[in-house]
Amino acid sequence: MEKFEPEIVALCCHYCAYTAADMAGSKRLCYPPNVKIIRVPCTGKVDAIHIMKALQKGADGVYVAGCLEGDCHFKNGNIRAKHRVKYVQKILNDIGWSGERVDMITMSAGMGERFAQTAAEFTEKIRQLGPNPIKLAVDQKSSAVGE
Ligand code: FES
Repeated sequence: MEKFEPEIVALCCHYCAYTAADMAGSKRLCYPPNVKIIRVPCTGKVDAIHIMKALQKGADGVYVAGCLEGDCHFKNGNIRAKHRVKYVQKILNDIGWSGERVDMITMSAGMGERFAQTAAEFTEKIRQLGPNPIKLAVDQKSSAVGE
């Protein structure tokens, strides 16, 4: 059996988390290649449907990374994102998935180390949780029809 390598989507705010990811790169800090970064103007622009869509398309885990609380460049976008992430976590728990597949993380632009560490920790957490249940269902359906 193949070793499971999770696909992670990180929705990163342009001003902090994305810059922190850049900083991690500049410092040549290693973080898992499993994490695919999508830059957003502010985490306040991330809606629950975006997170659900990423999961529907096969992401094994999704995290939203924004500015530290009180430092959002659009006042309270990160607080709104935090509430939306909690909402998605509740939906996932309600349908029998683990709400831990999604998370909200905050950091400043200078926190390259935190970005790299968070990426590694989240990837490991999803590795332990296993594949997205949608992927498993598709695999089972494919093998049932002999594809
Ligand atoms: Fe970074 Fe709003 S500008 S979370």
